[in-house]
Amino acid sequence: MNLTEKQKSLIQDLQAQEQLCIQKYTEYENLARDNELKSLFGTIRQDEEKHYNSLSQLLSGTCPDMKVMDNATTNYNPAPTYIGSFNQDDKDYDQYLCTDTITTEKYVSTAYNDELFQFGDPEVRKLFNNIQTEEQNHAEMIYKYKTANGMTN
Ligand SMILES: [Fe+2]
Ligand SMILES: [Fe+2]
Repeated sequence: MNLTEKQKSLIQDLQAQEQLCIQKYTEYENLARDNELKSLFGTIRQDEEKHYNSLSQLLSGTCPDMKVMDNATTNYNPAPTYIGSFNQDDKDYDQYLCTDTITTEKYVSTAYNDELFQFGDPEVRKLFNNIQTEEQNHAEMIYKYKTANGMTN
């Protein structure tokens, strides 16, 4: 696969975003107060590592056939932690982590959507499309966590 210098540079920018996501989810997995949220951040971090590695493979000249976990969000039904008696500071802090990560996912998802138009190769477009779908799924899972825990109002 032949990539132009401009295309390589776009892929490197996306990879830098994935690197930030990996760092953020690694840190937030440690910082989250609720174990359910720690576990969710850990799951998402693994996806971000997969995205990073897919882009490495693309830069080395082969477009990977990255599969999307279709039912990842449907199957995610977290048991609520912050109902009944709980520590309000913990809830507020975890809510902040959720809001921050949803914002990041929106940004990254938009970046894939924008850069896709710079590539004519259907394989690359499919890869970007699949990664974008997973970023949207990440935001949806975090939103489901917020909803379950009464954090959406
Ligand atoms: Fe990602
Ligand atoms: Fe993501």
